Amino acid sequence: MTISSDPKQVKQICFDNINVPGMNTLAVARENGAYAFLPTVLKDFSSSKIIDEMKTSGLRGRGGAGFPTGLKWSFVPRNTGKPIYLLCNADEGEPGTFKDRDIMRFDPHLLIEGMIMAGFALGVKDAYIYVRGEFVHEINVLNAAIKEARAANLLGENILGSGFSMNLVVHRGAGAYVCGEETALIESLEGKSGRPRFKPPFPAVEGFYGCPTVVNNVETLSTVPAILEHGGAWHAAIGIPNNTGCKIFSVSGHVNRPGNYEVPMGTSMKTLIEEYCGGLQHGTVPKVIIPGGSSTPWLTAENYNVPLTYDDIMKAGSFLGSGAIIVMDETADLVALTRRLAHFYAHESCGQCTPCREGTGWLERVITRVENGQGTNDDVTVLSEAATHMAGRTICALAEGAAAPVLSLLKHFPEDVQACLGENAA
Ligand SMILES: Cc1cc2nc3c(=O)[nH]c(=O)nc-3n(C[C@H](O)[C@H](O)[C@H](O)COP(=O)(O)O)c2cc1C
Repeated sequence: MTISSDPKQVKQICFDNINVPGMNTLAVARENGAYAFLPTVLKDFSSSKIIDEMKTSGLRGRGGAGFPTGLKWSFVPRNTGKPIYLLCNADEGEPGTFKDRDIMRFDPHLLIEGMIMAGFALGVKDAYIYVRGEFVHEINVLNAAIKEARAANLLGENILGSGFSMNLVVHRGAGAYVCGEETALIESLEGKSGRPRFKPPFPAVEGFYGCPTVVNNVETLSTVPAILEHGGAWHAAIGIPNNTGCKIFSVSGHVNRPGNYEVPMGTSMKTLIEEYCGGLQHGTVPKVIIPGGSSTPWLTAENYNVPLTYDDIMKAGSFLGSGAIIVMDETADLVALTRRLAHFYAHESCGQCTPCREGTGWLERVITRVENGQGTNDDVTVLSEAATHMAGRTICALAEGAAAPVLSLLKHFPEDVQACLGENAA
């Protein structure tokens, strides 16, 4: 790692070397510091020291829920006689999210090194990267990087003479959004259809084949090498308390420079959009900001200055989620946007829970009617009631995500809906 030891100077952790040509190869990755600190970790760090550093770092999972990583690792029961598994969640299905893909294709050794360190801390022998099926290029890059790492004894038996052995296998998913939910991912990896499980038990206690399993996002695991090299306190000094470190935001929509930007947590939404993304295409303030992927409630112009932290975005009424920020300016057709998202969720519902299976299709049909000028005020009531009753009544959060755009539209922009009803309004 080449990042500054002064936390105030740190702007990037996972993307520190993202633009280095050839970083996907072991030789270039090593020239830029990859695996340099790994021998020290394997030789001098105990499992509890690593978990303590992770707790001190304050790192919260970057996949969506923001659960503290060190705490999750500490839940894994040891000495049960069962193997412990580490699964990297590289499904990246949340609409608007495209950050993990960049880590995998440009700096795969960062993720591999993070997984070796995590695996060592947890006593893992077999680890998997569950990648969404459409990421064919990323899968090829990952497999080539794993092959090189194995040949260099960074993976496999007795890694660097440490006595620690770990295999790493890339598993290609079939491209289902719900398989990003950690228990559906586990089902899918076990060869079953990807349907979420009831929790508890949580995967840390009973996961893959009933064994203790840690599921972490690509960005989460890719942050581990910097934390162990520089120390948990170093990471905790970046960002703000309870929202530490840097975060990659995938920004899309009506901005002049959409893309992935890694910034310290606490940077304001406005700074990200104006200074990093070159501002809006039309107007001076966004009409809608979806802050954490399409399943998170919408923010509006009044939240433009919100600091990018889990806590501040929650206070504003939404979630930081995966950090996928979708920006809509005044030209956006919000009814069409909602209909498009409703179609996505109806298509992706696994069908296991009735409120989700029936509700997502219902939302899509009714909002389509509204968009086509055939909706009535009764339809608006149905949308509101169906979306309200779906949320929180299912095994996983997909239904809540499906309800969020509909409820946001009705709450913030009822006039846009009324304008579509036209002469059917009464
Ligand atoms: C419907 C649904 C889809 C999800 N998709 C993803 C995903 O694509 N990638 C991801 O890392 N987490 C996803 N999650 C969150 C995971 O269930 C889990 O919280 C995460 O992988 C844990 O890793 P972390 O602690 O490092 O964030 C999804 C959750 C839900 C409910």
